[in-house]
Amino acid sequence: MSLTTKFLGLTLQSPIFVASGPASHDVNQIQLAEEQKAGAVVLKTACSDKYEHMRAWPRPRYKLLDWDKQIAGRSKSFSLYSYEQGYSGTLEDYWEFIRVCKKQATIPIIGSIFADDALDWQEMAKQVEQCGADAIELDISSPHKPGSVAFETTFVAAIKIVVKSVKIPVLVKLGPGHEVVQQCLAAQDCGASAVSLCNRMRGFDVDIESQRPILHGYYAGIGGPWAKYYTLRHVAEAAQEIKIPISGTGGVMSGEDVIKYVLLGASTVQILSVIMINGWDSISRINAEIEEYLTRKGLNSLEQICGKALEAMTSPEDIIRWSGEPKSGARNDWKEKGT
Ligand SMILES: Cc1cc2nc3c(=O)[nH]c(=O)nc-3n(C[C@H](O)[C@H](O)[C@H](O)COP(=O)(O)O)c2cc1C
Repeated sequence: MSLTTKFLGLTLQSPIFVASGPASHDVNQIQLAEEQKAGAVVLKTACSDKYEHMRAWPRPRYKLLDWDKQIAGRSKSFSLYSYEQGYSGTLEDYWEFIRVCKKQATIPIIGSIFADDALDWQEMAKQVEQCGADAIELDISSPHKPGSVAFETTFVAAIKIVVKSVKIPVLVKLGPGHEVVQQCLAAQDCGASAVSLCNRMRGFDVDIESQRPILHGYYAGIGGPWAKYYTLRHVAEAAQEIKIPISGTGGVMSGEDVIKYVLLGASTVQILSVIMINGWDSISRINAEIEEYLTRKGLNSLEQICGKALEAMTSPEDIIRWSGEPKSGARNDWKEKGT
């Protein structure tokens, strides 16, 4: 039994990636990820010079919402609300960051970029490759991306030009929404090697005492354990339509969550919030939880169950519906109680 996973020609010691963000912004973090036996790291996204302003962040830039809030005195929930845009250094700093990561780390390093102009995408992608990155992720789905950039125009052109310009695998990271399958198909048609599903949503929160939006006063990225129920659906839908592999991301807190992603068709899973909240050893804990599952189920690897739950999915026409009358009096009792 082993966690070894093959993904885009890379051999990974685990299917767990550290997702792009504040836990992949400096080289010491890459070392921590490696010590915890992450499969790979997607570096924090670097923005093109046109978006230089996105390299500076408001302070504070994170807020845990509903942390330990009891819902009607019972269950707990939380959301991580954040406004952190690109890698904080210059592009030169980013290229050097990749070079140093590649010198020091043995796990695969995936560069991540954002731009709008096709030539910027091309130039940045070439640099990522030249600096030695094992793959590149195109972050075309940030919840903070400017409204002026659209998938059909800016991003389709970007995927095409990047795929033509580099030899390393190209992952396309998409956001949640009703066009996910369509965008996955477009990314596949443009030659992408894999899709990452899904980035966080853009959300908003307001403080009722001051009657003002919280933190920096604008929309922010939002996610939490609950987000996986959207992304699991997107992964399931995409897995039935596309041939390229899927890297799942969103709301993973445990080995159980990773296994759900794999059962619905993801080959690798990217995690971040759980590391920010519970620490680096979340990676080794999740690895151990997956190993325990594999042993319990008599499996050699997660690859054996990739997409397995899709085979058991029903179609709307085949859902077994109950058409009998309610048991005598049941409906009236309920009405009379007024509940
Ligand atoms: C604070 C923060 C910063 C992030 N920055 C980036 C980023 O620069 N590029 C990117 O592609 N995704 C970014 N993400 C999204 C994560 O990579 C990840 O896909 C997402 O948070 C879902 O995983 P999680 O629920 O395990 O956090 C960021 C997420 C958070 C919370």
